[in-house]
Amino acid sequence: MSTVFYVQASPRGTESFSIAAANAFIESYRKKSPDDEIITINVFDRDLPPFDGKILGAKYAILHGRSPSEDQKEDWAKVESIIEEFKAADKYVFAVPMWNFGLPYRFKQYLDILIQPGYTFQYSPEEGYKGLLPDRPVFVAYARGGSYPRGSEVEHMDFQVPYFKTLLNFIGLRKIEHVIIDSTLGSQQGAGANLDNAIRKATEIAENF
Ligand SMILES: Cc1cc2nc3c(=O)[nH]c(=O)nc-3n(C[C@H](O)[C@H](O)[C@H](O)COP(=O)(O)O)c2cc1C
Repeated sequence: MSTVFYVQASPRGTESFSIAAANAFIESYRKKSPDDEIITINVFDRDLPPFDGKILGAKYAILHGRSPSEDQKEDWAKVESIIEEFKAADKYVFAVPMWNFGLPYRFKQYLDILIQPGYTFQYSPEEGYKGLLPDRPVFVAYARGGSYPRGSEVEHMDFQVPYFKTLLNFIGLRKIEHVIIDSTLGSQQGAGANLDNAIRKATEIAENF
Protein backbone atom coordinates (compact mmCIF):
# COMPACT_ATOMS: atom_id res chain seq x y z
CA MET A 1 0.00 0.00 0.00
CA SER A 2 1.32 3.44 -0.94
CA THR A 3 0.62 6.84 0.56
CA VAL A 4 -0.14 9.66 -1.85
CA PHE A 5 0.40 13.17 -0.51
CA TYR A 6 -1.83 15.67 -2.33
CA VAL A 7 -1.03 19.36 -1.85
CA GLN A 8 -3.54 21.96 -3.03
CA ALA A 9 -1.99 25.42 -3.47
CA SER A 10 -5.15 27.29 -4.55
CA PRO A 11 -7.61 28.81 -2.05
CA ARG A 12 -10.42 28.73 -4.65
CA GLY A 13 -11.91 25.34 -3.83
CA THR A 14 -14.45 24.22 -6.41
CA GLU A 15 -13.65 27.26 -8.61
CA SER A 16 -10.01 26.23 -8.94
CA PHE A 17 -8.84 24.84 -12.27
CA SER A 18 -5.68 23.28 -10.86
CA ILE A 19 -7.66 21.52 -8.12
CA ALA A 20 -10.26 20.31 -10.64
CA ALA A 21 -7.53 18.66 -12.76
CA ALA A 22 -5.67 17.27 -9.73
CA ASN A 23 -8.95 15.92 -8.30
CA ALA A 24 -9.61 14.14 -11.61
CA PHE A 25 -6.13 12.63 -11.31
CA ILE A 26 -6.86 11.48 -7.74
CA GLU A 27 -10.23 10.02 -8.75
CA SER A 28 -8.62 8.01 -11.55
CA TYR A 29 -5.77 6.95 -9.24
CA ARG A 30 -8.28 5.76 -6.60
CA LYS A 31 -9.92 3.48 -9.16
CA LYS A 32 -6.54 1.96 -10.03
CA SER A 33 -5.23 1.69 -6.46
CA PRO A 34 -8.27 1.63 -4.13
CA ASP A 35 -6.26 0.53 -1.10
CA ASP A 36 -3.74 3.36 -1.20
CA GLU A 37 -3.99 6.11 1.35
CA ILE A 38 -4.47 9.66 0.04
CA ILE A 39 -3.62 12.54 2.35
CA THR A 40 -4.92 15.91 1.14
CA ILE A 41 -3.80 19.26 2.48
CA ASN A 42 -4.56 22.78 1.32
CA VAL A 43 -1.76 25.20 2.21
CA PHE A 44 -4.28 28.02 2.75
CA ASP A 45 -6.10 26.03 5.47
CA ARG A 46 -2.98 24.67 7.07
CA ASP A 47 -1.51 26.07 10.26
CA LEU A 48 1.92 26.95 8.85
CA PRO A 49 4.43 28.58 11.23
CA PRO A 50 5.45 32.04 9.96
CA PHE A 51 8.90 31.71 8.45
CA ASP A 52 10.21 34.79 10.23
CA GLY A 53 13.20 35.96 12.28
CA LYS A 54 12.23 33.77 15.24
CA ILE A 55 12.15 30.54 13.29
CA LEU A 56 15.25 31.54 11.33
CA GLY A 57 17.03 31.88 14.69
CA ALA A 58 16.23 28.21 15.30
CA LYS A 59 17.28 27.23 11.78
CA TYR A 60 20.66 28.98 11.98
CA ALA A 61 21.36 27.74 15.52
CA ILE A 62 20.95 24.16 14.21
CA LEU A 63 22.82 24.89 10.96
CA HIS A 64 25.82 26.32 12.84
CA GLY A 65 25.90 23.53 15.42
CA ARG A 66 24.72 25.70 18.33
CA SER A 67 22.17 24.39 20.81
CA PRO A 68 18.79 25.99 20.13
CA SER A 69 16.91 27.50 23.10
CA GLU A 70 13.77 25.73 24.42
CA ASP A 71 11.64 28.30 22.59
CA GLN A 72 13.58 27.75 19.36
CA LYS A 73 13.29 23.97 19.78
CA GLU A 74 9.51 24.26 20.00
CA ASP A 75 9.38 26.34 16.82
CA TRP A 76 11.67 23.99 14.98
CA ALA A 77 9.58 20.96 16.02
CA LYS A 78 6.69 22.42 13.96
CA VAL A 79 8.97 22.68 10.91
CA GLU A 80 10.22 19.14 11.46
CA SER A 81 6.71 17.70 11.70
CA ILE A 82 5.72 19.33 8.38
CA ILE A 83 8.86 17.94 6.75
CA GLU A 84 8.32 14.47 8.23
CA GLU A 85 4.71 14.39 7.06
CA PHE A 86 5.88 15.19 3.53
CA LYS A 87 8.80 12.76 3.52
CA ALA A 88 6.64 9.89 4.76
CA ALA A 89 4.70 9.75 1.47
CA ASP A 90 5.45 7.48 -1.49
CA LYS A 91 3.95 9.64 -4.23
CA TYR A 92 3.07 13.32 -4.61
CA VAL A 93 0.29 15.23 -6.32
CA PHE A 94 0.16 19.05 -6.49
CA ALA A 95 -2.45 21.56 -7.68
CA VAL A 96 -0.53 24.76 -8.42
CA PRO A 97 -1.89 28.12 -9.64
CA MET A 98 0.26 30.88 -11.17
CA TRP A 99 0.29 34.07 -9.14
CA ASN A 100 2.30 37.00 -10.47
CA PHE A 101 4.16 34.66 -12.80
CA GLY A 102 5.30 32.49 -9.90
CA LEU A 103 3.74 30.57 -7.02
CA PRO A 104 1.07 31.69 -4.47
CA TYR A 105 2.74 33.15 -1.36
CA ARG A 106 1.23 30.56 0.95
CA PHE A 107 2.63 27.73 -1.16
CA LYS A 108 6.02 29.46 -1.19
CA GLN A 109 5.82 29.61 2.60
CA TYR A 110 5.10 25.87 2.69
CA LEU A 111 8.09 25.21 0.41
CA ASP A 112 10.34 27.47 2.51
CA ILE A 113 9.43 25.32 5.52
CA LEU A 114 9.92 22.07 3.62
CA ILE A 115 13.21 22.71 1.86
CA GLN A 116 15.80 22.59 4.61
CA PRO A 117 19.44 21.49 4.65
CA GLY A 118 19.93 18.17 6.38
CA TYR A 119 16.25 17.27 5.92
CA THR A 120 15.34 17.51 2.24
CA PHE A 121 18.73 18.43 0.71
CA GLN A 122 22.36 18.54 1.72
CA TYR A 123 25.56 20.19 0.57
CA SER A 124 29.09 18.84 0.63
CA PRO A 125 32.14 20.23 -1.17
CA GLU A 126 32.68 16.77 -2.74
CA GLU A 127 29.16 16.21 -4.05
CA GLY A 128 27.72 19.74 -4.15
CA TYR A 129 23.95 19.92 -3.59
CA LYS A 130 22.11 16.64 -3.25
CA GLY A 131 18.38 16.03 -2.79
CA LEU A 132 17.54 13.77 0.15
CA LEU A 133 14.20 12.44 -1.06
CA PRO A 134 14.12 9.12 -2.90
CA ASP A 135 13.04 9.69 -6.51
CA ARG A 136 9.30 9.14 -6.07
CA PRO A 137 6.62 9.89 -8.67
CA VAL A 138 5.14 13.37 -8.82
CA PHE A 139 2.13 14.70 -10.68
CA VAL A 140 1.46 18.45 -10.94
CA ALA A 141 -1.62 20.23 -12.31
CA TYR A 142 -0.68 23.84 -13.13
CA ALA A 143 -3.26 26.56 -13.90
CA ARG A 144 -2.74 30.10 -15.13
CA GLY A 145 -4.90 32.93 -16.36
CA GLY A 146 -2.79 33.56 -19.45
CA SER A 147 -0.65 31.41 -21.67
CA TYR A 148 3.13 31.25 -22.02
CA PRO A 149 3.85 29.13 -25.11
CA ARG A 150 7.32 27.81 -25.89
CA GLY A 151 9.18 30.11 -28.28
CA SER A 152 6.77 33.01 -27.69
CA GLU A 153 7.87 36.43 -26.46
CA VAL A 154 6.20 35.79 -23.07
CA GLU A 155 7.73 32.36 -22.44
CA HIS A 156 10.38 33.88 -20.12
CA MET A 157 7.63 35.23 -17.83
CA ASP A 158 6.66 31.72 -16.74
CA PHE A 159 8.35 31.38 -13.35
CA GLN A 160 5.71 28.88 -12.24
CA VAL A 161 6.54 25.62 -14.06
CA PRO A 162 10.36 25.96 -14.32
CA TYR A 163 10.70 27.20 -10.75
CA PHE A 164 8.60 24.46 -9.15
CA LYS A 165 10.35 21.83 -11.30
CA THR A 166 13.72 23.18 -10.10
CA LEU A 167 12.62 22.95 -6.45
CA LEU A 168 11.32 19.38 -6.86
CA ASN A 169 14.55 18.33 -8.61
CA PHE A 170 16.58 20.07 -5.90
CA ILE A 171 15.11 17.84 -3.17
CA GLY A 172 15.54 14.70 -5.29
CA LEU A 173 12.20 14.38 -7.12
CA ARG A 174 12.77 13.97 -10.85
CA LYS A 175 9.99 11.62 -12.00
CA ILE A 176 7.57 14.44 -12.70
CA GLU A 177 4.55 14.43 -14.98
CA HIS A 178 2.32 17.45 -15.38
CA VAL A 179 -0.62 19.04 -17.12
CA ILE A 180 -1.08 22.76 -17.71
CA ILE A 181 -4.43 24.53 -17.88
CA ASP A 182 -3.69 27.74 -19.77
CA SER A 183 -5.89 30.81 -20.33
CA THR A 184 -8.26 30.18 -17.43
CA LEU A 185 -9.12 33.90 -17.50
CA GLY A 186 -9.86 33.82 -21.23
CA SER A 187 -13.21 32.90 -22.73
CA GLN A 188 -15.29 30.50 -20.66
CA GLN A 189 -15.45 28.14 -23.60
CA GLY A 190 -11.69 28.17 -24.19
CA ALA A 191 -10.92 27.70 -20.50
CA GLY A 192 -13.47 24.89 -20.27
CA ALA A 193 -11.89 23.12 -23.26
CA ASN A 194 -8.40 23.51 -21.76
CA LEU A 195 -9.63 22.06 -18.48
CA ASP A 196 -11.32 19.13 -20.25
CA ASN A 197 -8.05 18.36 -22.08
CA ALA A 198 -6.07 18.54 -18.86
CA ILE A 199 -8.57 16.27 -17.06
CA ARG A 200 -8.35 13.73 -19.89
CA LYS A 201 -4.54 13.76 -19.75
CA ALA A 202 -4.46 13.69 -15.93
CA THR A 203 -6.82 10.71 -15.86
CA GLU A 204 -4.54 8.83 -18.27
CA ILE A 205 -1.36 9.66 -16.36
CA ALA A 206 -2.98 8.41 -13.12
CA GLU A 207 -3.62 4.99 -14.66
CA ASN A 208 0.13 4.28 -14.70
CA PHE A 209 1.23 6.38 -11.75
C1 LIG B 1 -2.98 37.04 -6.95
C2 LIG B 1 -3.10 36.49 -8.33
C3 LIG B 1 -2.09 36.67 -9.26
C4 LIG B 1 -2.19 36.14 -10.53
N1 LIG B 1 -1.16 36.31 -11.41
C5 LIG B 1 -1.20 35.76 -12.64
C6 LIG B 1 -0.11 35.87 -13.55
O1 LIG B 1 0.93 36.43 -13.25
N2 LIG B 1 -0.24 35.31 -14.75
C7 LIG B 1 -1.35 34.63 -15.14
O2 LIG B 1 -1.37 34.13 -16.27
N3 LIG B 1 -2.41 34.50 -14.31
C8 LIG B 1 -2.36 35.04 -13.07
N4 LIG B 1 -3.41 34.91 -12.20
C9 LIG B 1 -4.59 34.13 -12.64
C10 LIG B 1 -4.51 32.70 -12.12
O3 LIG B 1 -3.31 32.07 -12.54
C11 LIG B 1 -5.70 31.90 -12.63
O4 LIG B 1 -6.89 32.43 -12.04
C12 LIG B 1 -5.59 30.41 -12.32
O5 LIG B 1 -6.73 29.77 -12.82
C13 LIG B 1 -5.42 30.19 -10.83
O6 LIG B 1 -5.41 28.81 -10.52
P1 LIG B 1 -6.68 28.12 -9.81
O7 LIG B 1 -7.81 28.26 -10.79
O8 LIG B 1 -6.26 26.72 -9.60
O9 LIG B 1 -6.92 28.87 -8.54
C14 LIG B 1 -3.35 35.43 -10.92
C15 LIG B 1 -4.37 35.25 -9.97
C16 LIG B 1 -4.26 35.76 -8.70
C17 LIG B 1 -5.37 35.54 -7.70
